[in-house]
Amino acid sequence: MKTTLPPGCAYRRDRLWLEEVPLEEIVRDAGTPLYIYSRARILENYQRYDEGFAGLAHQVLYAVKANSNAALIALLARAGAGADIVSAGELHRARRAGVPAQKIVFSGVGKRPDEIRAALEAGILMFNVESIEELQAIDRAAAALHKAAPVAIRVNPDVDAMTHDHITTGKKENKFGIPISKALPVFHLAARLPRINLLGAHVHIGSQIMTTRPYVETLNRILKLADTLEDQGVTLRYLDLGGGLGVRYKNEEPATPKQLAKDIAKALRNRNITLLLEPGRYLVADAGLLATRVLYRKDVGSKHFIVVDAAMNDLARPALYDAYHAVFPLHAGKGKRITADIVGPVCESGDYLARQRVLPLPEQGDGLVVATAGAYGFVMGSQYNSRPRPAEVLVHGNRWTVIRDRETLDDLVRGEHIPSDW
Ligand code: LLP
Repeated sequence: MKTTLPPGCAYRRDRLWLEEVPLEEIVRDAGTPLYIYSRARILENYQRYDEGFAGLAHQVLYAVKANSNAALIALLARAGAGADIVSAGELHRARRAGVPAQKIVFSGVGKRPDEIRAALEAGILMFNVESIEELQAIDRAAAALHKAAPVAIRVNPDVDAMTHDHITTGKKENKFGIPISKALPVFHLAARLPRINLLGAHVHIGSQIMTTRPYVETLNRILKLADTLEDQGVTLRYLDLGGGLGVRYKNEEPATPKQLAKDIAKALRNRNITLLLEPGRYLVADAGLLATRVLYRKDVGSKHFIVVDAAMNDLARPALYDAYHAVFPLHAGKGKRITADIVGPVCESGDYLARQRVLPLPEQGDGLVVATAGAYGFVMGSQYNSRPRPAEVLVHGNRWTVIRDRETLDDLVRGEHIPSDW
């Protein structure tokens, strides 16, 4: 089956372009490995998500963890998105990129006291609270600052999102949220604690979810809980449905935001509740490419290895989750077609970007792009093997600009100290 080209990409006279720029030009100037993002695609994805939910009171909060480059957060913030953050670092990034505090929610199972304080001081919309002890810690921190702390309780609905094990979060054996069977007293505690302002409920059941069914099931369980609470005098204003909608890496057909909105609309009718949505991957994954160059080719008899200059430290998803990312040559090759593993220079057999791919045998120095790398790509990168992290570039029509410099060798050792007499 032929894999479709990434959105905004086309071959023109055998050269791969993104929007109105030949990728070879960017790669020649900015070097490899290199992350390249399409501004138009990110905005399109955001618009599609936001408009999909147009019939329901809602606010889209970009899950910054998917790609936290300042330029991308700022782009989405200007388009109207808020931010879903999971650390003081992400709070810092979101505020710096211009996200209003009142459009920020703070998720995560392990918020530190200093992180709670920073978020209270910033005046965020709410904390998504994952345990009784966290709730108590937030109450104490709010008292110390003479503030009220807005919260939602994250409920674990025990629904299977039918996705990869490592990114399933809504089953009762996962570490996330408060089991739905034990949630009622926690909502009541939140309603009672003096400094806590209980605003809603939060769920996030997983990532790369392909159908609307697990969302509908989750929503039904949460609304039942909300009804019980209402009967007991506790009203929820917000329902945070989390993120998780999938994208196409190969030839999947994930549900669209519009379908999701349609499938949950009925259950929400006549309810005075504002939905919060935390998409990450959906907004940025297919707007990003990882460009790399071929260093060496090896024919080991049973197959070929194409050794490239990007590695698992730059894009960890294949090594971590055995994830599939399509690969395209910058020059539509006419060479003989081979089956190859595309691997990086890191000293581990798990260091590969793609396996068993049929492609025209590239020449040394030829450029390739790894597709759908905009989410959980750069952000999960490391300097493993002392490899400086790649630069990042944003394409806008026929222009492009560096939005993060390539790290230097000095960046690798910044902050390290050799004790002089030990
Ligand atoms: N909200 C919360 C509370 C989350 O934990 C996440 C993702 C999101 C929203 C955004 O989910 P998304 O819309 O991007 O699916 N590194 C993995 C994905 C980890 C997702 C973690 N949580 C991967 O590369 O597939």
